[in-house]
Amino acid sequence: MKQPYAHPMMPLPTMDELARQNFIAALKMHMEDNVYPGDRLVATKRVGPKFEAKHGRAPRDRHEWRHAMERDPFVQAWCSIARTIQEMNWDTVGEIVMHEMPRLLEQSEVKRPRGSLWLDPNLEVPRYNTAIDIHCMPGGYHSEIIADDIFAGAMFDRGAYYYGLPIRGSSALNYVDTRERIQRAIPGYTTIDYIRQEFPGLRPRRILDLGCTIGGSTVAYAERFPDAEVYGVDVAAPQLRYGHARAEALGEKVHFRQENAESLSFADESFDFVVSHGLFHETSAKATPRILAECYRVLKKGGVTMHIDTQFARGLDDYDAYYWDWDTHYNGEPFWGTLHHADARALLIDAGFARSTIREVWPIGNPDGTVRYEPVTDHDGKIIGSTIFGGRKF
Ligand SMILES: C[S@@+](CC[C@H](N)C(=O)[O-])C[C@H]1O[C@@H](n2cnc3c(N)ncnc32)[C@H](O)[C@@H]1O
Repeated sequence: MKQPYAHPMMPLPTMDELARQNFIAALKMHMEDNVYPGDRLVATKRVGPKFEAKHGRAPRDRHEWRHAMERDPFVQAWCSIARTIQEMNWDTVGEIVMHEMPRLLEQSEVKRPRGSLWLDPNLEVPRYNTAIDIHCMPGGYHSEIIADDIFAGAMFDRGAYYYGLPIRGSSALNYVDTRERIQRAIPGYTTIDYIRQEFPGLRPRRILDLGCTIGGSTVAYAERFPDAEVYGVDVAAPQLRYGHARAEALGEKVHFRQENAESLSFADESFDFVVSHGLFHETSAKATPRILAECYRVLKKGGVTMHIDTQFARGLDDYDAYYWDWDTHYNGEPFWGTLHHADARALLIDAGFARSTIREVWPIGNPDGTVRYEPVTDHDGKIIGSTIFGGRKF
């Protein structure tokens, strides 16, 4: 298997920068294991009782919990540290990309591309994608300072790479890209694995990845389905430019296009798979049904759409709903909480998918490194991890 992180477009740190990134990752793991769990203790022992004494009832929803918790000094301290860790991470990534830019710009000049890049300078980029720096990434997805800029794409690649490393693993810091770690960090592999298990025998000829950013997941489809024509679309030109160079550096054939997933240029019934990975938590509640309707329109009969994204929080109690909503308020992810509380099943039915074809599962890692997929309904009231949801068109 090729190693999607080990490619010539990856911005490489100096030893000092690497040390700083390792420190940030270690601090993040320490906070997650030893400090953030104190939030629940503070809620049950201090903030909850104080609220009840004043109002004669418990906080009613996640918003009331947040307003009450935000006043507590422990909560203020951990939120401030968590936000600072995120900012430190991007600061370091920014420095790495800055000194790597000359090399990356040279590398991004693809001489004989296998795939293609099509940008639309007239595309109206949705405001929800540009109004803030999503997940605190400085400049967001779009910053362009020089011609054919790839800076924002390189930021995402290095940032996402590093973000994926400290996912609960003692070996997280040693930079050895094992197959298992790569798969855990790249949602495309998980989605492919699930589609293959759930719909064995499907041989896609055309695959569309929506909100592909730098094609981190898209190249997984090109690798796993070498006979298929693979397309990745996104609204952000710098991400697509970088993604094109990255896919070519990996030797994968992907067609990147700058398009809004709410109104695609592709013909009706022209794809066998339409997928996305982390798109919906970054689109507005208004855009989500439009995108799912487009998925239905461009799918061939018998085609499958599957999307992996942040958890759906069905049945969560109000405190947990507040706790899992942190990114909405402090990490530049304004639609994070909205998606948690969306009804994927209802959205898919409204888009045209028959109820019997709809799937909604949690991918859960087994100790032996394999992944099993459990229906979301088996875990109402618990946060397990990302959710895969979608349906099939007949
Ligand atoms: C979290 S990133 C996706 C990561 C990527 N799929 C991966 O697996 O690495 C979300 C992406 O969705 C894109 N996006 C948001 N709204 C979009 C829309 N309406 N049409 C196309 N792309 C969109 C953003 O520009 C961003 O690149």
